[in-house]
Amino acid sequence: MPATKNTKKELSKEELIEKILKLKKKKNAVILAHSYQDSEVQLVADFIGDSLELSKKAAATEADIIVFCGVDFMAESAKILSPDKKVLLPEINAKCPMAAMCDTEGLRELKAKYPKAVVISYINSSAEVKAESDCICTSANAVKIVDHYKDKKIIFTPDKNLGYYCSMTTGADMILWNGYCYVHDEFSVGDIFIAKHENPDCLLLVHPESPKEVLEKADFIGSTSQIVKFVEENIENMNEKAGVIIGTEIEIAKNLQLRFPSKRIYPLADHAVCVQMKSTELYKVYNSLLNEEYEIFVEEEIRKKALKALNKMLELSK
Ligand code: 13P
Ligand code: SF4
Repeated sequence: MPATKNTKKELSKEELIEKILKLKKKKNAVILAHSYQDSEVQLVADFIGDSLELSKKAAATEADIIVFCGVDFMAESAKILSPDKKVLLPEINAKCPMAAMCDTEGLRELKAKYPKAVVISYINSSAEVKAESDCICTSANAVKIVDHYKDKKIIFTPDKNLGYYCSMTTGADMILWNGYCYVHDEFSVGDIFIAKHENPDCLLLVHPESPKEVLEKADFIGSTSQIVKFVEENIENMNEKAGVIIGTEIEIAKNLQLRFPSKRIYPLADHAVCVQMKSTELYKVYNSLLNEEYEIFVEEEIRKKALKALNKMLELSK
């Protein structure tokens, strides 16, 4: 097994891409990349998508190795869904801060207080929290999943903003865990004021991880892939004054600007950068494939329980 690691400077971008593609074929690996990943990393991916699309790909792949260019909970979900595959996370410190905000002890206490409540956890949670849950959701299917359980009291973890959006949309009685995504939670009415002042005829599209006051001002609320789909379907019909302001991680606006260079596409704010997502770099993807690092494991007892909750989500989001 070659143990040499390549540092950033040893190989050019083109050499890295060539070597990654060769290794991927040789090892029958698949590279899944979340759409917040850096554009260089997206170049070598077999599939790029949001959390729901990628978890479906992870469940269906025939590859022997899954290289997950994303964050910890995504690689863990892939391992839960495909236990016989080797799942690799190229940057071991790519950990989602929101997923770390919910702990099993606290969740168990809440469950004991509301024994009849259904627990729905956002996929941005640890395997242990998933194992304590009845069903998982992503931002693309959260409203549908909550709506399915709306006749019962619901404990929703960890994202208070997504939970609030689901309770407003469905009318469900929900207890919200106090977690949040720092990237989206930092969007403010001030950001909207500035973006709209500069581009008054642009529509505001925001991710439901954004705070209540931002959601209230949005023209469209949707997950990463739903925002992209909205732009794909509407941008050609927009005149030269119209356009879109994208209220989610900056990569989505950057990518759409490259795809539609003549259109008015702006990020809601330049501060919307997920540092954890960006910590995966091309040379780390190469090292990951070369040295088969960093392998993700989930304890079998936990995996089985978490799988039940994930499968429930996949069943309900068909
Ligand atoms: P989606 O991929 O479900 O849009 O979620 C965004 C996100 O924050 C992923 O970490
Ligand atoms: Fe976590 Fe937010 Fe980064 Fe997604 S964008 S990985 S929810 S911190």
